[in-house]
Formats: sequence, C-alpha cells, structure tokens
Amino acid sequence: MQYVSLQGLDRMQKYWLITGSVGPRPVALVTTLGADGLCNAAPFSAFNYMGEDPPLFVIAIDRYGEESHRPGEAKDTLRNILERREFVVNMVDEPILEQAVHCATDYPAQVSEAEANGLALAPCTQVAVPRIAQAPIAWEARLFKVLDLSAQRSIVFGEILAMHFRDDLLDRERLRVDVERFAPVGRLGGPNYTRSTDRLRVRVPTFLQAAGKPRE
Ligand SMILES: Cc1cc2nc3c(=O)[nH]c(=O)nc-3n(C[C@H](O)[C@H](O)[C@H](O)COP(=O)(O)O)c2cc1C
Repeated sequence: MQYVSLQGLDRMQKYWLITGSVGPRPVALVTTLGADGLCNAAPFSAFNYMGEDPPLFVIAIDRYGEESHRPGEAKDTLRNILERREFVVNMVDEPILEQAVHCATDYPAQVSEAEANGLALAPCTQVAVPRIAQAPIAWEARLFKVLDLSAQRSIVFGEILAMHFRDDLLDRERLRVDVERFAPVGRLGGPNYTRSTDRLRVRVPTFLQAAGKPRE
C-alpha cells in the first residue's frame, strides 16, 4: 500500500485523490429555471440520496474555479436553486451520457444547455422547472437546506416531491423500480464513466442464533 497524508496538499491535489477513490458516483443532471425563465441544465456527481422520511438527497456545488471563465462566481444551478427553491434531478443513463456531460460546457448564462445539446424538456407537476424528457428517471424537488461548507462549496439538500419513471422502469402495483432495466452510468475519476449492466447479486445472510453462524 502507498500512504498519502492530506495535510499540506492543495485543493486540486485533494480533489483528484478523493474523486479518484469514490466511484462509481451517480450523475444527476440538474435542471433549474433562471430569473429570465431560461432552463439551465448541469451534471453533478457529488450527489447521493440521504434518506426517505423525509426523502432527502444532497448535491455538492462548488463555485467556479480560478481556471474557469467565471472565477469565484456561483454556478447558475446554485443561484437558480437559491432563487426559486425548486429544481429537478434527472438520472443519467448511457443514451444521454454524452449530452449530459456536454451540458457542463462553459456556455454563457443566456444559453440553455439542454437545448444546445438536443435534450428535450417536459413539464413537471409540482414544480415550475422542466425535466429532461429523455431521462429514464426524474425527481421533482424543493430546496430543503443549504450548508455553506466554505466560500468555495455549498451542500444543497433537496427534498423529493414526485418522481417520473420511463414506462418500463416502474412496477406500479408494487411501487418498485425495475432494477434489471434501470441502467444508470457511474462517474469514475476525471472523464471516466462506467456502465451498470454487468451485475452481481449478493444477499446479506440472516444470522441463525441457534446455529451460532449466518445461514449459508
Ligand atoms: C459528470 C460531471 C459531474 C460534475 N459534478 C460536479 C459536482 O458534483 N459539483 C460541481 O460543483 N460541479 C460539478 N461538475 C461541473 C459542473 O457541471 C459545471 O461547472 C457546470 O458548467 C455548472 O453549470 P451551471 O453554471 O449551469 O450550474 C461536474 C461536471 C461533470 C461533467
């Protein structure tokens, strides 16, 4: 094993070590509405679910870095979420991966990334923000809380209000997602992604008190 202490490393050195270690990460293509009514779309992989009651998830949003076209500025996604307090998380699978990643292009604020990348918008029910029509699953969400961790980074807690599923992905009677059919992509370090179609099934064995060992 090779040992690395994080003390003394700069931000980007830590970023590469951490994001290279945590993977595959789900990708949320977040849609929001700007004050001008323009729909904004951007991918976020510092994203995960946090609970079901209340149904919460988190997305960590950085300010634009020094290397960017808007150093130090808040990302449009964060600005729009704070202004409107509602947004949509669109899950990303292989058919829309490239389009979703290209939504991170440094477009000027007045360009709709979804439109520029051939992603169609569809209306939501409980929020004014549109969802991405081609996304296999989309969550309508409202802002629950924002934690400003540092001048650089905000953690957005979203509360899920409603979900949209591609027809074949939801077993409506059991209210379960068909995990055989849902194939989200995962992000690894940098521009590397993985499919989720090669599956492993591992069940947690029940511990049998009488036998003093887990069931085989
Ligand atoms: C797959 C992928 C995942 C990303 N994840 C994050 C993230 O978790 N947090 C973040 O601040 N930026 C992330 N980014 C960068 C943003 O998507 C990018 O800065 C985007 O242009 C922000 O757009 P906006 O200003 O419209 O919000 C990611 C980019 C890609 C391609």
